[in-house]
Amino acid sequence: MSLPMREHIQIRETVAAEMPRDLLLQADPSTARVNACLHNARCFVGEIDADIVGVYLLQATAPEVWELMNISVHAAFQMQGVGSAMLRHAIATAGAAGAIRLEVGTGSFGYQLGFYQRHGFRVTAIAQDFFLTHYDEPIHEDGIQLKDMLRLTLELR
Ligand SMILES: CC(C)(COP(=O)(O)OP(=O)(O)OC[C@H]1O[C@@H](n2cnc3c(N)ncnc32)[C@H](O)[C@@H]1OP(=O)(O)O)[C@@H](O)C(=O)NCCC(=O)NCCS
Repeated sequence: MSLPMREHIQIRETVAAEMPRDLLLQADPSTARVNACLHNARCFVGEIDADIVGVYLLQATAPEVWELMNISVHAAFQMQGVGSAMLRHAIATAGAAGAIRLEVGTGSFGYQLGFYQRHGFRVTAIAQDFFLTHYDEPIHEDGIQLKDMLRLTLELR
C-alpha cells in the first residue's frame, strides 16, 4: 500500500530566486507585495518527487515574533495534507529560531480561517479595509470582495 502523499513531502529552505512566482501569487495577487516579502523573508519549498508543490515565507517582525506569509500549495496537490505539513514545518522553524509567537494575516472569510485555527491559531486583531487600501485591484473570493484582514496568532510557548 502506498503512503499518503504528505508522507512523501520534503520541505527545505531555499533562496528567493528559486521560489515559484505562480505559487506566491496564488496566496497574494500583488507582485509588489510578493517582491517586498521575498526580499526580507526566509524562503521554503515543499517537494514531492523533486517537484516543488508548495511554498511559504517566514520573517521576523519583532523580537521573538515571526510572521508566516504566502503559504501556498499547487492546486493539483491541495486537500492532501501538503499545506498542513508545511504549516507544521513553519511552526517548528519559527520556534527553533526563538520565536514565542507566530502570526499570519488572512482574509476575514474563507476556508483558510479553518485551516489556521485547526493548527491552534487564534484571531487576535482585525485590520479593517486592509485589502482596499493595500491593493490596486479589488480581490474577490467565492464571489465576495475581500475588505478586511484578520491577524491570527499562535503562541509557541
Ligand atoms: C491554504 C492552503 C495552503 C492549504 O493547503 P492544502 O494542502 O490544501 O491543505 P491541507 O490539505 O493540509 O488541508 C488542511 C485543511 O484545510 C481544508 N481545506 C484546504 N483547502 C480547502 C478548500 N479549497 N476548501 C475547503 N477546505 C479546504 C481541508 O479540508 C483540510 O481540512 P482537514 O485537515 O480537516 O481535512 C491551500 O489551499 C492553498 O494554497 N490555497 C491558496 C493560497 C492561499 O489561500 N494561501 C493562504 C493565504 S492566507
